[in-house]
Amino acid sequence: MLHWEKKLVLGVPEIDREHEELVKKTNEMLTALKSGNSKEEIIRHINFLADYVIKHFNSEEKLQAKYNYPDIANHKQIHSKFKGTVTQLIQDIDENGLTTSKKIEISKMTMDWLLKHIGVEDKKLADFILENRKNT
Ligand SMILES: [Fe+2]
Repeated sequence: MLHWEKKLVLGVPEIDREHEELVKKTNEMLTALKSGNSKEEIIRHINFLADYVIKHFNSEEKLQAKYNYPDIANHKQIHSKFKGTVTQLIQDIDENGLTTSKKIEISKMTMDWLLKHIGVEDKKLADFILENRKNT
């Protein structure tokens, strides 16, 4: 499970609010994976989380445009890569079902992805915005 903790707070309230929600929704999916839910139920949870991630990407994209963030092209690439990964994952679950090791792999992958998203990509964006706000 993920915890909403200080090191995840980047200092840009618009981003932090959505990240807190993202952690909450991720934990819901991790709980679904741990319990004996059906494959359909798990897919529904993954879709629900992916929808929120895409919504979140869109609002970050708007912020990036607003602040003329130089790394915007890279972000869009991450966005489409993420969509591809989710599509593949759902297809895989649908075709092959879910073993315990697969569940652990998905949990680990999701947590790694989220921590990297916040700690690396969004950290860069937040620092850029904070620097910008300081100067205006
Ligand atoms: Fe983010």
